[in-house]
Amino acid sequence: MYQRVALFSALAALARAQQAGDQQDETHPSLTWQDCSGGSCSDVSGTVVLDSNWRWTHIIDGYENCYEGNEWNTTACPDGATCAENCAIEGADYSGTYGVTTSGGELTINLVTEHEYGTNIGARVYLMEDDSNYQMFNLIGKEFTFDVDVSNVPCGVNGALYFVEMPQDGGMGVNGNNAGAAYGTGYCDAQCPHDIKFIDGEANVEGWEPSEGDENAGTGQYGTCCQEMDIWEANSMGAAYTPHTCTTEGLYRCEGAECSDVDGDRYGGVCDKDGCDYSHYRLGDREYYGPGGTSVDTNEPFTVVTQFLGSGSDLTEIRRKYVQGGQVIENSVVNVEGVEAYDSITDQFCEDYKEAFGDPNEFAELGGLSGMGASLARGHVLVMSIWVDFYAHMLWLDSSYPTDADPEQPGIARGDCPTDSGVPEDVIANQPDSNVKFSNIKFGDIDSTY
Ligand SMILES: *[C@@H]1O[C@H](CO)[C@@H](O)[C@H](O)[C@H]1NC(C)=O
Repeated sequence: MYQRVALFSALAALARAQQAGDQQDETHPSLTWQDCSGGSCSDVSGTVVLDSNWRWTHIIDGYENCYEGNEWNTTACPDGATCAENCAIEGADYSGTYGVTTSGGELTINLVTEHEYGTNIGARVYLMEDDSNYQMFNLIGKEFTFDVDVSNVPCGVNGALYFVEMPQDGGMGVNGNNAGAAYGTGYCDAQCPHDIKFIDGEANVEGWEPSEGDENAGTGQYGTCCQEMDIWEANSMGAAYTPHTCTTEGLYRCEGAECSDVDGDRYGGVCDKDGCDYSHYRLGDREYYGPGGTSVDTNEPFTVVTQFLGSGSDLTEIRRKYVQGGQVIENSVVNVEGVEAYDSITDQFCEDYKEAFGDPNEFAELGGLSGMGASLARGHVLVMSIWVDFYAHMLWLDSSYPTDADPEQPGIARGDCPTDSGVPEDVIANQPDSNVKFSNIKFGDIDSTY
C-alpha cells in the first residue's frame, strides 16, 4: 500500500467483481467520544483504524504475499525501498479477521480471532479525526477518562490504552508511504519496536529475523521510537500508568545502540524503556486493585481518570482516580520503605522510588516530566490494543520480575500471577475468549469528565 494506494484500490474493486471475498474495502469503525472542554461535554464522531502491521501485505497488482507468516518474500522485497514500491497493504475486515468491533462509544478488542485464512492474535487501533488523520490530543492541563472492562483480561494479557507521539498523517508521503493514517501507518513507541514491517515508508527487510515464539512476527534492523504516555497497561490482576521519555521529537527510526537493545542492554538509547511507572501493587498496596480488590474490583467495569496538571508545555504532575459503583476512588498511596507516601507521578516520586528499588532513573536522564510535557504539547495519538508478550510473558505487569530475583526485594513483585503464567501459547489455547472493552472516552478540563 505504501505505494499506489489509489491504483490498488481500483484494481481491488475490479478483482472483487471476479473473485468474491478476496479483497477488502477499508471502512473505519465509528467510535463516539466526548469533548468536555469549556464547561459541558459534547459528542465527537470519531473512528478507529487498525495498525498497518496486522494487514495483509501483497504484490500491488496481484494476490501473492510480500510477507507471509514471519518472513518477507525476498523476490518482491530485496530491500526496503523496492518492497515499498512493489507491495500493498490491504483493507481490513475489522470484526471477521481482527476481532475489533465498536458500538456507539464502546470498543471491544478480542485476543483470538479464528478466520478464513488463519488465526489472528491481538490488535492495535488508533482514534481518527477523519479518514486520513489521527485525532491529536494535547493532554497538558487536561483530563482523560474512559470506562474499562478487564474482567476478561487474564494473567499474561494486556488491554492497553495509551498515547504516543505518532505523526498525525501516519507519515504519508515519507519515502514510499502512500497509505498513511487511513491504513494505520506510522506507529512508534518508547520500546523502539523492531517488529514494525514498514518504517518511514520503507520495509524493515534488512536484518529481518523471524521471531522464535511468534509465528506472525519478526524483527528488522530498524526500530521506531517516540515518546509514550501509558495511561493504562492492565489486566484483571495488575495496572500501571507510565510516562516514557525520549530525546527525539516525533517518530524516529533508530538503528544499533540508539535503539538500546544491543546485547540485552535496555539503557543508553534514545528512549527510556522502563518509564516512571505507577503500579498500585508494586508500590506497596497489594489489595487495592484486582478481582475483589478493596478499592477497584476488576470483576466489574470501572472508570479510569487521569489528570495532567500543568499549563503550556509544562507538565508537573500526573494524577489518577477511579470511579466504580458511583464512588470516586482516590489513587493508592505509596507504601515502600524509605519512600514518602506519594499518590501521583512527579519527578521527585520517580527519583525516590527508583532509588529504593535500585532502578536507574533513565526517565529523568532523558527528560523527566518536562521532556514528557514538551512531547505532549506537540500532540499525541490515542492507541488502544490487546496483546500478549512473547518476550517477558507480561510478568513485569502482573507477577514477579525479573523471575530470577528475590520477590521479597523491593520492586520485584508486581502482582499475584504465577511466574510461569502468561506464556502466549498457553493463554491463546486456554483463554481464547479474552477481550478488553473500552468505552465512554472523555477528554476535557480537570474534574470535568467524571
Ligand atoms: C513473491 O513475490 C513474487 C513477485 O515478486 C511472486 O511472483 C511470488 O509468488 C511471491 N511468493 C509468494 C510465496 O507469495
